[in-house]
Amino acid sequence: MKAKEGIVNLLNKILMEELTVVNQYFLHAKICKNWGYDRLHHHVLQRSLGEMKDAQKVIDHILYLEGLPNMQRLGTVKVGETVPEQLKVDLDKEKAMVKMLTEGIQHCVKVGDFTTRHMLEDMVKEEEEHIDWIETQMDTVKQVGLQNYLSEQIKES
Ligand SMILES: [Fe+2]
Ligand SMILES: [Fe+2]
Repeated sequence: MKAKEGIVNLLNKILMEELTVVNQYFLHAKICKNWGYDRLHHHVLQRSLGEMKDAQKVIDHILYLEGLPNMQRLGTVKVGETVPEQLKVDLDKEKAMVKMLTEGIQHCVKVGDFTTRHMLEDMVKEEEEHIDWIETQMDTVKQVGLQNYLSEQIKES
């Protein structure tokens, strides 16, 4: 199926961001493992793999629309040097992704592409769950203190 105006471009921008966060979250997960925070490692790794599934969805959809997925470009991978910093830079990425997806949905409405719109709406839902999880961690750190929070992360969930 031929893509409507601007859709392949839009999807390639989203793909670039998804691939960027796959790397960022994967690296954060592995750093957490190295620090001995097995529980955080597990959660953050699952989030990275979830973003990889998003990338796969977007790639499949671009090909379905007879476009070419661009795998060449990556955005900036921001690495947090502490757990709170990791949470902060990941939250920034998730919020930026929701903004990008929301603008994408508006574009889909404008050009009348309901299939892409539906896919992006599903993706927004997932990214909002990611935001919710990160914000919950930040709240917990505030409530119980960083040391208590981190000592809970040593155990595998
Ligand atoms: Fe994603
Ligand atoms: Fe996400």
